[in-house]
Amino acid sequence: MSGHGDPVPMTSRRAEALRGVAEVPGDKSISHRALILGAMAVGETRITGLLEGQDVLDTARAMRAFGAGVEQHGPGEWSVFGVGVGGFAEPEQVIDCGNSGTGVRLIMGAMATSPIAATFTGDASLNGRPMARVTDPLALFGTQVMGRSGGRLPMTLTGAAEPVPVRYTVPVPSAQVKSAVLLAGLNAPGQTVVIEAEATRDHTERMLAGFGADIATEMTEAGRVITLTGQPELRPQAIDVPRDPSSAAFPVCAALICEGSDVLVPGIGLNPTRAGLYETLRDMGADLTYENMREEGGEPVADLRARYSPDMKGIEVPPERAASMIDEYPILSVVAAFAEGRTMMRGVRELRVKESDRIAAMATGLRANGVTVEDGPDWWAVSGMGPGGVPGGGMTASHLDHRIAMSFLSLGMAAKKAVRVDDAGPIATSFPIFGTLMAGLGARIERSNR
Ligand code: S3P
Repeated sequence: MSGHGDPVPMTSRRAEALRGVAEVPGDKSISHRALILGAMAVGETRITGLLEGQDVLDTARAMRAFGAGVEQHGPGEWSVFGVGVGGFAEPEQVIDCGNSGTGVRLIMGAMATSPIAATFTGDASLNGRPMARVTDPLALFGTQVMGRSGGRLPMTLTGAAEPVPVRYTVPVPSAQVKSAVLLAGLNAPGQTVVIEAEATRDHTERMLAGFGADIATEMTEAGRVITLTGQPELRPQAIDVPRDPSSAAFPVCAALICEGSDVLVPGIGLNPTRAGLYETLRDMGADLTYENMREEGGEPVADLRARYSPDMKGIEVPPERAASMIDEYPILSVVAAFAEGRTMMRGVRELRVKESDRIAAMATGLRANGVTVEDGPDWWAVSGMGPGGVPGGGMTASHLDHRIAMSFLSLGMAAKKAVRVDDAGPIATSFPIFGTLMAGLGARIERSNR
């Protein structure tokens, strides 16, 4: 939904050891895709483990507006009755994608090659984010776009009546842009080709193959070349959504920095295009193990066990790993504050155009809690203060960004003094049970006065 309710200020105090099993919700990226591809298949797609965060609920509502049937049977259990590729109806109302860049960008792609018009909007965060990165390639299919200056929402797209296939090299490492082009390519005749220099999350490619599309990925000197044959009939699927590695990052990282902790986070999706944080934590010396590695629904899955790790060292995070951990830099910077030495994060310009400018938001909030942070246009560095060494005591702003709010609440679990967050409301977009789950492990988070 655009706009949020009243701010929800929260305070997080130093916790005793965090212990127990943390069952985090379904993967946000996969949940969006399951609903959208389900809506583009012919017949009933059954989904279990769907994330019921606000971002995904907004995508479910949007799919209904385009004519698909979307029904909830029970917690995480949903059916989508798809209308087929090219079968979307024109929505009668504005499509409000709330806080979700993934939702709006993928849905724009999915409707861009059907002869219908749709107007998109979102909350203050989403309406400030760049959309030209998606609408520029969609225009190559013949889609018409009219929006605010700077390529911002609200924006109206009129889908191409006679789309042509596209060959497009994605200029920024973005799975959302790649996915928007592939989804648009579904209703274009012939072959649509997307080339990405850096590998980004590949859930769209995997799921398209599962739905029966003709899609192939080739590694070349230019990077990954993905070729999709248009106008397939997508076959409905049964999709079991793995638990979200980006949400798992919070209980895992909190356990690493809270003395005496031992937390098991079962059933986490560990697709290599998403698992960069966990490699980085191990490089820093974290006591983090993968147990019971297996494959579920075409995605690698494992149980993660994280124990208090007082010997972590700051490192230079390999920039080529950035895409595989792009959403995890905020919580990594919190862990880095409790390590010995400096953690340098380079090649992360994209962090500046997420739900907030995540480098600015984290740098400001960490400094307010006594941590030294340096930053530049596409890099930042955190000077670690060692285990138990972070003063805390600061007020932080979440800037309508769920991951910023969860990162600072995690900081408070191990800092000397309590950490306050001005608005934890956005956490409901991706991890609605964050507060109860963390409290169940032993965290001390409570609602505070502003
Ligand atoms: C996502 C892609 C990433 C990520 C976002 C989810 C996706 O965004 O930050 O949270 O599901 O495709 P970009 O495509 O902008 O890198």
